[in-house]
Amino acid sequence: NLLLGFYLTKPTTNQLGMFVSRLFNAQPTEAETAVWNQVSAVLEEAHGILAELQSYNGAGQEIREAIQNPNDLQLQEKAWNAVCPLVAKLKRFYEFSLRLENALRSLLEALTSPPYAPMQHLEREQALAKQFAEILHFTLSFDELKMTNPAIQNDFSYYRRTISRNRLNNQQLEAENEVNNEMANRMSLFYAEATPMLKTLSNATTKFVSENKTLPIEDTTDCLSTMACVCRVMLETPEYRCRFTNTDTMLFCMRVMVGVIILYDHVHPVGAFAKTSKIDMKGCIKVLKEQPSNSVEGLLNALRYTTRHLNDDSTSKQIRALLQ
Ligand SMILES: *[C@@H]1O[C@H](CO)[C@@H](O)[C@H](O)[C@H]1NC(C)=O
Ligand SMILES: *[C@@H]1O[C@H](CO)[C@@H](O)[C@H](O)[C@H]1NC(C)=O
Repeated sequence: NLLLGFYLTKPTTNQLGMFVSRLFNAQPTEAETAVWNQVSAVLEEAHGILAELQSYNGAGQEIREAIQNPNDLQLQEKAWNAVCPLVAKLKRFYEFSLRLENALRSLLEALTSPPYAPMQHLEREQALAKQFAEILHFTLSFDELKMTNPAIQNDFSYYRRTISRNRLNNQQLEAENEVNNEMANRMSLFYAEATPMLKTLSNATTKFVSENKTLPIEDTTDCLSTMACVCRVMLETPEYRCRFTNTDTMLFCMRVMVGVIILYDHVHPVGAFAKTSKIDMKGCIKVLKEQPSNSVEGLLNALRYTTRHLNDDSTSKQIRALLQ
């Protein structure tokens, strides 16, 4: 059992290579097909969403000009016309987060359903495990882009201010049909989060374990800690780095590792940083810091600011120091 090997000892390079190539090439078995198809339809859109977010430039200039010249109606209109299609984009991203949440739910259900233990699930359902990793990879990529793009919140608050000003003047704007007040409220909660996609997923995972009372929490958290372990070992093993990989794969592993740590920390009663945690946090943080990648700082920040238990008394000084 390859995964059990991972968990207990350091696997050899060959074992690692075998596991990774199996994971990357995993085809869904018959039992996995229904869930796999559902999640696959969502993941197919993920690329497009990331590309759209990457090229999101915002309407900063138009908004600035409109605010500086409040009596120039033409400039007001220009800013409004620039912002509306952007808000439609933001709405698409937000709606995608809801579909992603459903996809995650289906995967969690499949990967924790009785009678199998979490590790058996990951062995049996590698194609689903891979999709789970892809969801996390998308999530961390999305949040990284969102975090470095202040235009998003700027555009959206301009949009909301304009709407409410017009409402005071009893003018109904056409755009309200697209994003009504209730939708705008939900979107603004979403975009107010530093890492909105991850927050959506951690909320959904927490909800999943609280709704499934008969399912031991460990079934879910073991699934997460095993994935963290696989990623850590892949990043830690120099032979693996030279032999199999390119920077995209490493970045993939880094993001998935951080994603599962954060989910674990939100779901597990004592979290990921406690001594009893099944995640080797020291090892994970160390290996993350060793990676030659521009994304490291953002991922460390995700661990610093979006986990729940880092500042608990039970977190060791050493781990705290590593994250200082
Ligand atoms: C979790 O709860 C949902 C809805 O309550 C149910 O459909 C699903 O089968 C449960 N899953 C497990 C693994 O218990
Ligand atoms: C997550 O849940 C909290 C608490 O219920 C809520 O305040 C927050 O808006 C939710 N965030 C997202 C992105 O769903």
